[in-house]
Amino acid sequence: MIQIKDLWKRYGSFEVLRGLNLEVRQGEILVILGRSGVGKSVLLRQIIGIEKPDQGSITVDGVEITALKKNEIYQAVRNMGMLFQGAALFDSMNLEENTGFYLKEHRLFSPREIAEKVAIALQKVGLEGAEKKMPSDLSGGMRKRAGLARLLVYRPSILLYDEPTTGLDPITSQQINELIVNTQNELKGTSIVVTHDIHSALFMADRLALHCDGQIIHVAEPKEFMNIDDPIINFLRETLVTQARKDTPQ
Ligand SMILES: Nc1ncnc2c1ncn2[C@@H]1O[C@H](COP(=O)(O)OP(=O)(O)O)[C@@H](O)[C@H]1O
Ligand SMILES: [Mg+2]
Repeated sequence: MIQIKDLWKRYGSFEVLRGLNLEVRQGEILVILGRSGVGKSVLLRQIIGIEKPDQGSITVDGVEITALKKNEIYQAVRNMGMLFQGAALFDSMNLEENTGFYLKEHRLFSPREIAEKVAIALQKVGLEGAEKKMPSDLSGGMRKRAGLARLLVYRPSILLYDEPTTGLDPITSQQINELIVNTQNELKGTSIVVTHDIHSALFMADRLALHCDGQIIHVAEPKEFMNIDDPIINFLRETLVTQARKDTPQ
């Protein structure tokens, strides 16, 4: 579905992506783990075509988007949607307007159809009744759910999520995890989820990838991935063990 070959991206003299290779399969949830600042958000921005890499190729559904001109990219990535790290809501629009924004923009439906779709999506993410609220009145979890509702109405076949649970409490995080899995099932889509939350990674991943030093250094199914001998994976495993000990009643 998505093939990334030898991807390089630098800002000034700082090389963030350094020959990164990755394949994402049709219908899977691929979770990318990695420390802060390794270039996970940068990678997502190249995939969705907001930025152009310095070198290398990204092919999505047979189309090499990195070879396209700017106006062609817009067309090529229409089937992709992204939940940005801060949810990227428009501050001047209420929740209802934010959720219907892309549908309105693309003139795909009548205002009445849009209103219906928005209402259904807001209900799915548990935000019914908050339609008229402005983004500044929403909590972090509500903002993420609002971003998710916007994805739901747009129904892209490729979904990118940038740290969907970062900064949320465990219960809200789990709600978001479930929404991501449900969305994937409902849209029969392909998802890439960037996170450093190992719990949420293991909950939803078909495969896990480790982003380190500008490259994807491991990709495997969860069980196999967690057995890899790598300093970061060892640390993640240790985190889980410590957590399990805490959770066990004495
Ligand atoms: N537009 C930019 N200009 C300059 N440096 C950037 C830009 N975007 C990201 N970077 C740098 O690239 C590195 C990776 O960033 P990012 O992809 O946001 O990390 P993360 O893995 O935490 O998502 C960081 O050191 C960041 O400062
Ligand atoms: Mg990031």
